[in-house]
Amino acid sequence: MKTEILYAPDISAKDQIARAGKLLKKGKLVAIPTETVYGLAASAYNEKAVENIFIAKGRPNDNPLIVHISDEKPLSDIAKEIPEAASICMKAFWPGPFTAIVPKSDKIPYSVSAGLETVAIRMPQHPVARAIIKAAGVPLAAPSANLSGSPSPTTAQHVIEDLMGRVHAIVSGDDSKVGVESTVVTFATTPPRLLRPGGITVEQLKEILPDLVIDQAVLSEPEKGQKVASPGMKYKHYAPKALVTMVSADSKAFSEYCNKNSEGYDMVLGFEEDRKNITLPFESLGKEKDYRSQAELLFARLREIDQKGYKNVVAHAPEKKGVGLAVYNRLIRAAGFKVIEL
Ligand code: TXA
Ligand code: MG
Repeated sequence: MKTEILYAPDISAKDQIARAGKLLKKGKLVAIPTETVYGLAASAYNEKAVENIFIAKGRPNDNPLIVHISDEKPLSDIAKEIPEAASICMKAFWPGPFTAIVPKSDKIPYSVSAGLETVAIRMPQHPVARAIIKAAGVPLAAPSANLSGSPSPTTAQHVIEDLMGRVHAIVSGDDSKVGVESTVVTFATTPPRLLRPGGITVEQLKEILPDLVIDQAVLSEPEKGQKVASPGMKYKHYAPKALVTMVSADSKAFSEYCNKNSEGYDMVLGFEEDRKNITLPFESLGKEKDYRSQAELLFARLREIDQKGYKNVVAHAPEKKGVGLAVYNRLIRAAGFKVIEL
């Protein structure tokens, strides 16, 4: 398939946004920028188009998609009901990197929800994403625009690497500022449960949802055969081909560990504070306490590991605070849940 590249660095690219909207309306697949990561969009009401998303990504068909909206109007068409706690969170965190799971309406095909009776909904903040949803005139089902299993795309170039020739169009916009995917909370159970940490932090959520439960899949590997609340969390996600080992330690202990084990590793993914003490090739994830910049850099760094041919990487685990929890959640998956605690 020939993939059209549409350039829309901002909403002044009216023709390109209109073109993306027209393609989506016709049931085509279009990759779009959002503030979290790029998404691969199709009309959420078009079963065939949604099925094509799974084919283009090579995504297992038991892993449901998030439905993206630009305003509240279509909510009543998408959800059977909106529990009050969900409604309060939507008001607090939309538009933004927050996804609510609620009971699904009949209008949403089971291909979107992967057979579940619930549906995930997000209103992105990104102006181009919002303009494209408006232009399409329908809610858009959109997973991250990567090949299944590879790190999520935070630049148009990442999407081109993964999906060129597999989708109808790629909208090339700015780099994703948040850098990790949205926070996913299910309101289908009481109390609400965090299924995936993301751009909205647990600290922010707990101000509104004091009884929020953190699903155990957030920080640990689901046991074989165990039923998981969020199917996406059971896959070895975000993984480069290289072997990644995560080390949880302060800067001094981390540098000592890297230098002592320098035969075993060919690259260190660490924080700025670690760099001066380390002899191995070093890539930076930003400052130790700057969780937002770690999130912004993470997926690009994971892609570079393979591009630069590294085979055995040691990564410094971030603190599980703020957006650091989302970075930790992605890195531990990239590491196949291998963590050394020092
Ligand atoms: O920031 C984001 O959320 C990005 C951008 C494009 O909006 N999208 C994204 O989609 O990350 P995706 O498909 O890569 O991740 C969706 C996650 C998966 O872990 C999936 O299992 C979970 O949300 N999910 C979706 N619907 C669900 C449902 N009904 N019940 C439980 N988990 C659900
Ligand atoms: Mg994804």
